[in-house]
Parts: sequence; structure tokens; C-alpha cells
Amino acid sequence: MSKKVLVLPGDGIGPEIVAEAVKVLECLKQEYGLQVELEQGLIGGAAYEAKGRPLPEETLRLAKEADAVLLGAVGGPQYDKLERPLRPERGLLEIRSELNLFANLRPAILYPQLASASSLKPDLVAGLDIMIVRELTGGVYFGQPRGIRSRADGSREGFNTMIYSESEIERIARAAFDIARKRNRRLCSVDKANVLEVSELWREVMERVGKDYPDVELSHMYVDNAAMQLVRAPKQFDVVVTENMFGDILSDCAAMLTGSIGMLPSASLDENAKGMYEPIHGSAPDIAGKGVANPLATILSVEMMLRYSLGEPELAARVQAAVGKVLDQGLRTGDIHTPGMRQVGTAEMGDAVVAALRP
Ligand code: IPM
Ligand code: MG
Repeated sequence: MSKKVLVLPGDGIGPEIVAEAVKVLECLKQEYGLQVELEQGLIGGAAYEAKGRPLPEETLRLAKEADAVLLGAVGGPQYDKLERPLRPERGLLEIRSELNLFANLRPAILYPQLASASSLKPDLVAGLDIMIVRELTGGVYFGQPRGIRSRADGSREGFNTMIYSESEIERIARAAFDIARKRNRRLCSVDKANVLEVSELWREVMERVGKDYPDVELSHMYVDNAAMQLVRAPKQFDVVVTENMFGDILSDCAAMLTGSIGMLPSASLDENAKGMYEPIHGSAPDIAGKGVANPLATILSVEMMLRYSLGEPELAARVQAAVGKVLDQGLRTGDIHTPGMRQVGTAEMGDAVVAALRP
């Protein structure tokens, strides 16, 4: 039976990079019999402009009906002055929360061809393959109470709440242990248990769930140390599990180890492996419309979609191999360009991946 994929290009470079990922999906349909129906929808600033809201009802309905969602990016400086509920980022947070996409998988894999594009010495990152599992629908991003209020003396204060229930911690723990089991069976849980009660509970639940996974080696690390270890000796990590905001920060850091944030895909999954797939980078307004953005993170998000939501691991492997092949050919967008390589634009990179994919 044919599966439904909702395509949400979003803002900035979103439409450009998503167009290349769609070419890849179309090629898989034509050449390899992939059975998917693509639908388009609006999110972020684009949705605000057309419908007055960053996540229109129609988009949410289509997303709920779909088997998977492919998202570009949201946001832009022109929206920064809008009231918070109307900002593009709110559309993204709402769709994550409405679809219950609590498990965010952010792999940081170094393609050997890009070792010299990393800001770290090649021997520190050669062969790097980390999976960051970020809790995505809880913590300080969603915790209540939150706001900006006046104090008795007339000055104002801003406040947010970092809160996790045991069940929220337990489900992300299980997701992370399951992933570790399919990899090198090492899980590092990152928290701030020396300061925060919410982390104290996080650590306790991780330990408890860990008893069901005696074959996985569980360790704990404070988030400040984890940031340091990621740039000091990143290969010590296999799977990292952490709460929403720590995961947001650490995943950008891990991304740079691989040469460019333009290379990293992500999957956000619910309990039933329904997922939303997006590059981890943002809408990059500075280069939007110029045709120079790197589409590989979005194409690799399609790879994750094939693997996790569409049940097509062989096609996923083909996409991954095709990306490897264009890198072997020396094609590079500006963000991963190094001397001696051929610099190409967004569409040329996408076309090269499609060509490499054809039988
Ligand atoms: C990410 C982004 C988002 C986040 C923003 C755009 C709301 O930084 O996906 O990492 O903070 O989760
Ligand atoms: Mg982020």
C-alpha cells in the first residue's frame, strides 16, 4: 500500500533544499518502485503569511494523516518582531508536540571524504559515528509556568520551568536503550544532576530502566563536561541521551565535528515510528534564494525516513551510498568546500545525487 509523505518546505533555504530531497524521492518512485504519495503543506513564516498562523489547522490535519513528514526549515529575521505565538518557531514546536514526536535522533557521522572540513584534527574525528537522542516534547521548551511578569518594584522578570515526569523520562530512556542495542551498546545520559532536581530524577529513572538492558553499558555525564568531551575526544561516545534543551545545544556542537551542520539529518519519532524528518540546521536567511545551500542534510533526512518510517532500509542504503559517491566525485557546496574540490550549488548537488542513485 502506498504511504503518504507530507512535504513542508518552510522558510529561508527550506524550499530550495526540500526541492532536492523531493527529486530523490521521485527518483526512488520511478526507478525502484517506492510507493509514496507526496503532499505539500505550509508551516512557519510561509504559513503565517498565507494563513495568519505558523501551523495552520490544514497542515496539522495533513500531518496527522501522513505516515511521515519531510520538513525544510522555519524562521527568518522578518518574523522576529511577531508576538511569540505567531513566530515560525512556534509552528515547529507545536507540530512536534501535537504529533507526540518525543524522540529526536540526531546522528553525527563523519563522511571520510570530509575529514579535512572538520574544525577538529582529522585523527580526532576520523570514523566518528555518534547518535544523539534528544527528548523533544518536554523540558524547559514546554514547561509551565512560563512568561515575563512585573515585580513589586516595577521591574520585570522572565521565567521558564524545566520539568519532566517519570513517564516522559522513561519513554525516552527506552527509545535510547533500544537504539544503543542496535549499535555499540554504550549509552551516555547527559544531565546536570549536581545542580538540578529535574536531572536528579532523570538520572534515577535512567538507572532504573537500565536494569532492563543489562547488555547496554550506561554512563552519566554532566552537560558542561559533555560539551567539553565532544570537542576533546568525540569518539568516546556511541549513543547520547539527553533532555530537550541540552540536546539542542549539544547536537549543534556535534554537527560541527562532521565538517558542516549542512550535512546532518534528524528524525523525530513517536511511539509508533511515525516521524518527521528535517535537517538539523536552520533556515539560513543570509543565503536563502541564492541556490548555494547544502541539500545533503535534507537528502539524508529522506534516508532516515526510508529507514524508520517507510520500512525501506535497502533504499535508505542506496541514498546513503549515492551521497558518498558524489562526495567521492569531489562535489562540494560552499559550506563543505576545501581546496581542490569542485564547488557546486544546491540544484547541481541534488541532481548529482539523483544521477548517482539511478541504476
Ligand atoms: C532545532 C532548532 C529548533 C529548536 C528551533 C528552530 C526552535 O534549533 O531543531 O534544533 O530549538 O529545537
Ligand atoms: Mg537547534
